Amino acid sequence: MPAFPENFLWGTATAAYQVEGAWDEDGRGPSIWDTFSHTPGLVANGDTGDVACDHYHRLEEDLDLLAGLGVGAYRFSISWPRVQPGGRGPINRPGLDFYSRLVDGLRTRGIAPVATLYHWDLPQELEDAGGWPHRDTALRFAEYARLMGEALGDRVDTWTTLNEPWCSAYLGYASGVHAPARTEPAAALAAVHHLNLGHGLAVQALRSVVAPGASMSVTLNLHHVRGVAERDADAVRRADALANRAFLGPMLEGAYPRDLIDDTASVTDWSFVRDGDEAAAGQPLDVLGVNYYNPTLVRLWDGADVRENADGHQDGAASPWIACEDIDFVRQPGPYTEMGWNIDETGLTELLLRLHRDYPDTPTMITENGAAFADVVDPDGRVRDERRVDYLRRHLTAVAEAIAAGADVRGYFVWSLMDNFEWAHGYAKRFGIVRVDRDTMERTWKDSAHWYRDVVASGKLPE
Ligand code: NOJ
Repeated sequence: MPAFPENFLWGTATAAYQVEGAWDEDGRGPSIWDTFSHTPGLVANGDTGDVACDHYHRLEEDLDLLAGLGVGAYRFSISWPRVQPGGRGPINRPGLDFYSRLVDGLRTRGIAPVATLYHWDLPQELEDAGGWPHRDTALRFAEYARLMGEALGDRVDTWTTLNEPWCSAYLGYASGVHAPARTEPAAALAAVHHLNLGHGLAVQALRSVVAPGASMSVTLNLHHVRGVAERDADAVRRADALANRAFLGPMLEGAYPRDLIDDTASVTDWSFVRDGDEAAAGQPLDVLGVNYYNPTLVRLWDGADVRENADGHQDGAASPWIACEDIDFVRQPGPYTEMGWNIDETGLTELLLRLHRDYPDTPTMITENGAAFADVVDPDGRVRDERRVDYLRRHLTAVAEAIAAGADVRGYFVWSLMDNFEWAHGYAKRFGIVRVDRDTMERTWKDSAHWYRDVVASGKLPE
């Protein structure tokens, strides 16, 4: 049976807007996701994060939940507009106090805090001033990072600057299915750059103020891109440049890949990249966070057959895949999760081995992996989510295989600790290993939570 290294970090993950609620309490300012979810028609069922899982008011109960699972680490995010309401200026003390209690509560229970600074909730005032396509947002982000480092830097083990900047840039500014719902390809590429720059400046700012032993990281949703046939190699290369190397290049190598600049030349001349920016983005990292759900399959579209667009965007609507008009994103064989995503753990092993080959000195950590299923509560009150257990088992086996083949993987975080606000899908998609009743907010362990507790306790997968 696959076993994991002695000091392997086991955890679960959440994000502020998806679980906290208390959207206008204790001086919190509005974020782009408040604006988005309060706009009719943008989120399924009109759901909002106003209450979410009410985690803000149930902190102690949720900390006990984590302790019950026995996890060694908890990955959460700090809501920027809660601690710095307009994205600039002094700290909002009551907001900071919440994270201070969270971090202390974790430490008292022996759980290592893994704090993400940006999981998509940009202060609305910064979006009004131009958002991520605007250079100043990167500078504001670094300032916010410094403030958090000063306030919590003696107690946080791992700092993650950004979560999935791919989504922030391409879903927020190109396809518009995420906040701030803009469909401007050139602005999306400028957002890519200012996210990269903001990341690098934030790492520098954090390092200057936090405890010397703290780890620095970023979490990317790298796409494991495969081609249908040999002739699709160039489609694979282009999708890989746009989705992966647009971030890996500057962040891990201090330079944008030349082919990305060439591929997108009809959209932008990249003149927003100033001298020194790429080097600033390329700060040494202690660990690279990887979020993995499924692989991506592409082929060059020959114009003959019907397009599939299995990348989540409606035919005719704006695409997150800038300058990829002649690439078809192909629907892959099932089984599928409730998100319509195919289940294929082999992509995770291959992705981890690629990262190990390309960046042998940077260890990785799976900062998200999990699945949404339409769970039912049985009459006896149990949630028998065997498909989620199967998904997790497959992917943990894939991680173990990558480790056995030489990859330096340091930890694994299930997405998610509990059912929560799944962005434009609202509460309809349940990713939790703990169920949240939408009426009572009651938390119930699903079978997968019991299973995961046993994995964490033994450090290996059960027979
Ligand atoms: C990625 C995001 O980081 C997280 O917020 C989201 O809920 C999960 N994936 C599932 O889509």
